[in-house]
Amino acid sequence: MAAIDAALDKAKEHLEALKTELNYHGHRYYVLDAPEVPDAEYDRLFNELKALEETFPDMITSDSPTQRVGGAPISDFASIKHEIPMLSLGNVFDPEELIAFDERVKDRLKLDREIKYACEPKYDGIAVSLLYENGLLERGATRGDGQTGEDITQNVRTIGSIPMRLLGSGYPQTLEVRGEIYMPREGFNTLNKKAIEREEKIFVNPRNAAAGSLRQKDSAVTATRPLEMCAYNVGWYDGGELPSTHLDILSRLGEWGFLVSTFRREAKGISECIDYIDYLGGQRASMPFDIDGIVFKVNDIEIQQTLGFISRAPRWAMAYKFPAQEEMTLLNDVKYQVGRTGAITPVAKVEPVFVGGVTVSNVTLHNRDEIERLGLHMGDTVIVRRAGDVIPQIVSVVESKRVEGAVPVSFPDCCPVCGSSVSTKEGEVIFRCSGGIVCEAQGKEAIKHFASRNAMDIDGLGDKIVEQLVDEKFIHSIADLYSLEESALVGLERMGEKSVENLLSAIEVSKNTTLARFLFALGIREVGQTTGRNLAQSFGALDSIRKASLEDLQAVNDIGPIAAKNVVDFFAHEKNNLMVDTLIAKGVRWDDVIVPAKDALPLLGKTYVLTGTLETMTRVEGKEKLQSLGAKVSGSVSSKTHCLIAGPGAGSKLAKAESLNVEILDEDAFVGLLAEYGG
Ligand code: IVH
Repeated sequence: MAAIDAALDKAKEHLEALKTELNYHGHRYYVLDAPEVPDAEYDRLFNELKALEETFPDMITSDSPTQRVGGAPISDFASIKHEIPMLSLGNVFDPEELIAFDERVKDRLKLDREIKYACEPKYDGIAVSLLYENGLLERGATRGDGQTGEDITQNVRTIGSIPMRLLGSGYPQTLEVRGEIYMPREGFNTLNKKAIEREEKIFVNPRNAAAGSLRQKDSAVTATRPLEMCAYNVGWYDGGELPSTHLDILSRLGEWGFLVSTFRREAKGISECIDYIDYLGGQRASMPFDIDGIVFKVNDIEIQQTLGFISRAPRWAMAYKFPAQEEMTLLNDVKYQVGRTGAITPVAKVEPVFVGGVTVSNVTLHNRDEIERLGLHMGDTVIVRRAGDVIPQIVSVVESKRVEGAVPVSFPDCCPVCGSSVSTKEGEVIFRCSGGIVCEAQGKEAIKHFASRNAMDIDGLGDKIVEQLVDEKFIHSIADLYSLEESALVGLERMGEKSVENLLSAIEVSKNTTLARFLFALGIREVGQTTGRNLAQSFGALDSIRKASLEDLQAVNDIGPIAAKNVVDFFAHEKNNLMVDTLIAKGVRWDDVIVPAKDALPLLGKTYVLTGTLETMTRVEGKEKLQSLGAKVSGSVSSKTHCLIAGPGAGSKLAKAESLNVEILDEDAFVGLLAEYGG
């Protein structure tokens, strides 16, 4: 006996806990329009409570959420009693349950022929009742608790797809139309984008946005919101006739000016209903609005009336719910991924959860701002959303489930891979590792950049070869390039003996470079070719750049505070200095740069363009020589061009220079010019 009592006490305790939790979430959902948990979670708790109450009917109390549908109406709006209650629908989650529903319908009707069903999307929005008297919109009301709703007439009047006056003729004198108000995805995205720009709170999903928009006391605000209404039923009518099937009624509503679903179909028998599940499931991702399932309704109104209602749902209709797009789970950890460009992306590691048809365990958190927006703490209960093919997201945190002492998630100051400092540009949300070449995560890209034509110009060391060398672990960093052995290269794809020989000699040749190229090759953020050249020309020696302060660097032509800071940060890192020293120790060298006095830049302020082929030097060399004399070298001829250097094969640039009367020099004259200035 004692054991039975203990079991009963336990059941009662659990039941009370469920009621408390459901009432809390019901209040947030129905009264505050700020649900904290996904619908699927609410449904699960609700069903658990219902099952428990079915086992122990004596324990049902009047305050149980199962004894009322929904929550209390919002007190700010006048209450409206529905003439006919606005019911909800029974739910099924798989085809077998739907077949069982059809069997129940046929059993009840004592029929063994196929039933015709109307199939239509289940809109994920807010149910509304619209009352028309003699064709004029008199009143709009929310569903509220099903019996009593809120008067939102002023707000529904602002929605373009709701007719103020019915079109055509033949409508009953009194007509109550029911449907769903929702926000199409595109409008929702735009609304949230604007909210972000204005630093306002964003809506977690389109349904929430629609609810928030309808609750506005100022209907002028509602008018700015992109809402739509799709009609799906008639509540009650008087003084007129309606067609005898649901689908014909919908078509009639369409004629009277309502938006009705273009996805609606008739299905003969339950097997065609199952075909419709496949059809609409395939359309779902590309639909312009969110749906959370399908509603199947017995098409014949007379049969509907025969079947009638059971508690809060009709016996003649059933909702088939798609897998939930939002689920609740636990945040186990946050890891930080370092991308090719050093961008650091936080990734939430969550307890695996089945959502939107797949199991999700990793969810991107995008950037540091997103962590702040969510106010994430380790171990938090979070809501994961995966809609269609969209990547999973954490939409919000269930703060009421946060455990005491939970530690806030904090974005790292240092790169999790190489330990270099992490920084961002003003106005950017992405934080990056400042490690550049020393950061293994950025390794491959750094090596590709180092070898590229305008950097160390290692002929034959293309992207594919770099990838293979890193993947096969022959090299880890750029310095390893200068220790590469023939044995490593011969094993690579498409590398014959001759190519290996050529590549090794190109690597050797690249050791002779210029300081400007070397600085550019290091891949310091914001240090492009021009900045590399300006630094080389201003400081002359690498050591002076290494020691330079922010002020020294900013004094250089074209170097702003961000580039200056990146240079200082770069050389503040021991790993970077070690890398540079290793390169030099392996033979990378350059001629000292003679720092010219300001007046020793005779071409300062002049713009040159090079075209055609040169015999005594490459175009890149020609460009560097001009730049060392202070000239700017541009890729195209314009009225601002001072001089065009044209070798054989020059085409349109030569013609344009001629038409603009720009000075033109051939190679001999160019070499003469360089000689004149000692270049
Ligand atoms: S018919 C008596 N049709 O689903 C039948 N409802 O869980 C009443 N809903 O509150 C509903 N799309 O807001 C019906 N095509 C559709 C629907 C639909 C969405 C909503 C409706 C209702 C809820 C029922």
